[in-house]
Amino acid sequence: MKKVLVLYYSQTGQLTEVVKSFAAPLEADENVELVYQAIEPKKAFPFPWGKVAFFDIFPESVYMDGCEIKPFEKVKEDDDFDLVILAYTIWFLSPSLPISGFLNSKYAKLLSNKPVVTLIACRNMWIMAQEKMKKKFTQLNATLIDNVVLTDQGGNLATFITTPRWMWTGKKNGFWGLPKSGVHPDEIKKCSRFGKALSDALAKDLEKEKTSLLHGLEAVKVDNRLVGTEKIATKSFNIWGGLIRKVGTTGDKARLPVLFLYFLFLLSLIVIIVPLNVIVKPIFRKLNHKKVDKERAYFEEPSGASSERLKEYN
Ligand SMILES: Cc1cc2nc3c(=O)[nH]c(=O)nc-3n(C[C@H](O)[C@H](O)[C@H](O)COP(=O)(O)O)c2cc1C
Repeated sequence: MKKVLVLYYSQTGQLTEVVKSFAAPLEADENVELVYQAIEPKKAFPFPWGKVAFFDIFPESVYMDGCEIKPFEKVKEDDDFDLVILAYTIWFLSPSLPISGFLNSKYAKLLSNKPVVTLIACRNMWIMAQEKMKKKFTQLNATLIDNVVLTDQGGNLATFITTPRWMWTGKKNGFWGLPKSGVHPDEIKKCSRFGKALSDALAKDLEKEKTSLLHGLEAVKVDNRLVGTEKIATKSFNIWGGLIRKVGTTGDKARLPVLFLYFLFLLSLIVIIVPLNVIVKPIFRKLNHKKVDKERAYFEEPSGASSERLKEYN
């Protein structure tokens, strides 16, 4: 009997749906004991988000300060699992605060010396967050064996409107020709292929090899165009986040003027840098295509974007 732990935090329930679809084949597998453990903040975050509350958590998200989390009900910190699935969403190009709270807590030990699969559902910018996650895994001596990423439906421009609208109003409907917000339901349904592949791999003890079990299943696709944006945004988040953290803690009124300044900076960045990026970056990418391809392959590790096993698992 294999023991698999699924850890997740979802605010609106979308990631919970993804997790349930992903893990359904493992739940049906008699040879697997599956434990779902939700990570819950002691103080729930507001939803829909007020604009100030939304931006006010960005410094702590970026610096992975985390928040206090409720004690786990189903597992103790020294329980032993054959495989851990850690499902998380992205807040400001970083793991969400409850996930950082978990990583900073005594429960992070659950990952130590274990093969870990990360499962992400977000708008479309997750690369820098996953880099931060990799550093934490190294500190915990956990082995990242796979990463699966689901992103919101619609292109970069559409989700730039639909995702924040969903977060700030709670509305998910499509409007003005834009698609609904969130991950497409078909994508959520289809991610059970990963659970099937894991179930087969566990039956063969393959998790012990600590290498990818989900390759060839289109687990992750890096959009080259977003890598540069994520890098620039992370730099600005670090500088401004550090400054705002010095002024006070979340909820502190003294932070408001600096937060407002940052908001103006962000707006100007979007108005000036983003269009410039659209014109200049494709030329740069063409000239440096070898470097760009290498970088994409690195960010797509360990599961990769290839599809050779899709027939077997669809
Ligand atoms: C405060 C906040 C910041 C976010 N920042 C990002 C981001 O940097 N990149 C991204 O792709 N999605 C971002 N999102 C979207 C989330 O990753 C996620 O898709 C959304 O919160 C729904 O997840 P849920 O299952 O927890 O409800 C952000 C959401 C929130 C609430």
